[in-house]
Amino acid sequence: MKRKTTYWALCIIAISMAALTAYDFNKQNSEVVVYTPASTGITTNLLYPTLVPDRIILNLTNDPTHSVAVNWRTDTTVIQSKAQVAAATHGPEFLKNIRDIKANRELLTHKPENDPEVSAAYHSAIIDGLEPGAKYVYRVGSEDYWSEWFQITMPEPEKKISFVYFGDAQTNVKSMWSRVIRQSYAAIPDVDFMLHAGDLINRHDRDIEWGEWFHAGSFIHAMVPSVMTPGNHEYKDVVLSPQWKKQFNLPSNGPKGIEELEETCYQVNYPNLKIISLDGEQIDESEEFRNAQRDWVDSILTHDPRQWTAITFHYPMFSTKPNRDNVKLREEFKPIFDKHKVDIVLQGHDHAYGRGFVKNEVEGVNVKDQIYGTVYVVSVSGPKQYEVSDDPWMDRRAANTQLFQIITIEGEKLSYGAYTATGELYDAFDLLKSANKPNKMINEIPDIKERTELKK
Ligand SMILES: [Fe+2]
Ligand SMILES: [Fe+2]
Repeated sequence: MKRKTTYWALCIIAISMAALTAYDFNKQNSEVVVYTPASTGITTNLLYPTLVPDRIILNLTNDPTHSVAVNWRTDTTVIQSKAQVAAATHGPEFLKNIRDIKANRELLTHKPENDPEVSAAYHSAIIDGLEPGAKYVYRVGSEDYWSEWFQITMPEPEKKISFVYFGDAQTNVKSMWSRVIRQSYAAIPDVDFMLHAGDLINRHDRDIEWGEWFHAGSFIHAMVPSVMTPGNHEYKDVVLSPQWKKQFNLPSNGPKGIEELEETCYQVNYPNLKIISLDGEQIDESEEFRNAQRDWVDSILTHDPRQWTAITFHYPMFSTKPNRDNVKLREEFKPIFDKHKVDIVLQGHDHAYGRGFVKNEVEGVNVKDQIYGTVYVVSVSGPKQYEVSDDPWMDRRAANTQLFQIITIEGEKLSYGAYTATGELYDAFDLLKSANKPNKMINEIPDIKERTELKK
């Protein structure tokens, strides 16, 4: 009897497996399909769009104090969609004062190598006319298919600006990066924005990896605006991820007339803080776009009235990895950063942590100065880890550690904290600014042993 039961059980399993293998995994809006390759744990509900908006994300605009950009995805049958916004109220009465904002729509059909083809409509809108410090609710969708109402608070940059900075997420994004972005949100839920320094995913065009990235951040992406600079893993053969410009709505205010640098090289201006994204891959690969970015960054920092400047790009100016060195980048850009006394540079790529205060003079790779200069940081938020060198440019370093950084600017003071995935403070300093003087650094490194051993 027992043997017979086992026989029929095996038959059922074999028939089910054959049916699953034959299934058209690209079928959309039908029954729920659960496609779970053992190697990745990927499910198709992260892959295919439906009538209901998904992958909802806010981006910073040119004017982040009064507006925010929102982006979402649906299946291609959704033609007209919109965002709705209202001032937040204690109860549901905000529903009486809703403002509609028509969305733009772009289509993308893409089939990455060895992956199924995905077709999607990407929608975007700028929600403008917002007041600093005020709370709003917004939703996105069309007809009967809407997101939930998300509550957002506009920044008050005259008081302070806080942001979270992440190095590479890149691999195991759903399973192992998710806890880092979620821990960062738990640490500072009223943060003004999140900044990603490239290599958000591993293979630039894999839609399922983007699905994992959106899943990992889930509603955080819809409540806290993001800015992101592309890494080498957002490119292949100097071609940008086809999803990048469709799924994000980043400022197009970089070097004029260069389409290749749109939404990868740009600036965001708060009254007292300029954030600049440089396209590291185009610096590395193209002399033309390297020169264009160098001249552009020089021009926008000339006579800039803001006290604080933070620049992000993917490749480190000073590496944390033994025997890595980005000479072209340093030769072309460090003199510009020195000239304009850039305050902090936020980078990724090396899959370890390093933070140093490097003198504002071109005196070689390892010159460190404790009194003034630009702070350079390399960090990593995902589980892929490389060894860290003992190069003396670093005041604090780590291997084998997933981190997020919280940076807060309040008047003349920039406060910085690097936290591990568990939320423990690992590195900290303050930068103090006073007129016509270099920044003063106050190191506040916690009394925790440096994690420099790479565990395999
Ligand atoms: Fe990376
Ligand atoms: Fe990289």
